[in-house]
Parts: sequence; structure tokens; C-alpha cells
Amino acid sequence: MLRLPQAAALRENTASLTSGDMIRPILIHPDPRLKKLCDPVAEITPDLLSLADDMLTTMYDAPGVGLAAPQVGVNRRLIVVDCAKTPDAPRPLVMFNPEITWASEDLSTYEEGCLSIPDQYAEVERPAEVRARWTDRAGEVQEEQFSGLWATCVQHEIDHLNGKLFIDYLGPLKRQMITRKMEKLKRERARSAAAQA
Ligand code: NI
Repeated sequence: MLRLPQAAALRENTASLTSGDMIRPILIHPDPRLKKLCDPVAEITPDLLSLADDMLTTMYDAPGVGLAAPQVGVNRRLIVVDCAKTPDAPRPLVMFNPEITWASEDLSTYEEGCLSIPDQYAEVERPAEVRARWTDRAGEVQEEQFSGLWATCVQHEIDHLNGKLFIDYLGPLKRQMITRKMEKLKRERARSAAAQA
């Protein structure tokens, strides 16, 4: 999710941070692969660690502050997030099987975007703070409380694993308008790809 000005600066400082060297194509809504319930990760294999590295590279390159495996066409419960506010101190989180274990009653509104829905933003209301549990890349179970942009981002990315997009929180007219824009964008991209072939 979320393209932010600081993400562009982060990209400069994180180029050598991850070993993933492959920028993977990001699926654009509407795509049936973005609407599926993702399967849990039973074992953290070298292939999945390599995928996580590629996802971080892809996220920083976009630039964005979060990316979920289904957005690169992999139907597994894996997200990467980095909402660090300063480019000097990146904090890439790789979260396998992430789940929300507690959410605050307090809500907050954030103007969200999504790398699978380029250049479209809308206000979404969510719990202001959440506690999340996940398995890290070393196979250790972690639990942490998030607030602010981190809380929004973790919830947005976990939604992806359940086939849910931020536009699903909007009214039907707004959602349809954005979906039509994305269909048009995909047609234009297909045409220009065909023209180059
Ligand atoms: Ni997203």
C-alpha cells in the first residue's frame, strides 16, 4: 500500500539492504488473484525467503511502504512492511502468517493507496492501534503493538491476504469509478506492450 514522498528517499538508502535482486511485476486491480484467500506458510523455505527479499526490493522500488505476496501473484500469507519515517533508519519487516490479535476501539482515518491500484487514494477508517503476531524470517514468533501509519499499513497488508482491498471499504459508486479507471489503465498498458512487441 501507500506511496509516500519519504518512500522515494527510502529507496535510495535501502538499495543494498536486501539481497533480493528481482523486481517482480505487481498485479493491478481488477485481478482474480487479488481476491483470493491466501494459504498459510507451513515452513519458511529458501524460496519463500528469496520471495520476501524480492518483495522488499519491489516495494522500495515502487516506491511503497507495504506489499503482500498476492500482489506479486503468490497465494501465500506473507507481507513486507516498512513505514520508517526516516530514510536513514529503514525498518524492513518480513511477516509470515501475520494476524491481528488485538485492535483498539479508537479509530483513525488515513488516506490510503495501494500499489495494485496506482494513483488512487481514499480515506479509510480503521482501528488506530493494533497488536499483531507473526513469524519472522528466522522462524521466531513475534508480537508487537503498532500505531499510526504502521497500524494502518499492517491492517491494509493483512487484508490483502484475505482478498480484501482498501476500495472494498468505499461506497459502491466510488469503488466502481476506481475499478473502471484501473480497467482503462490495464487496456492502455496492454496496447503499449503490444505496440512494442
Ligand atoms: Ni495494497
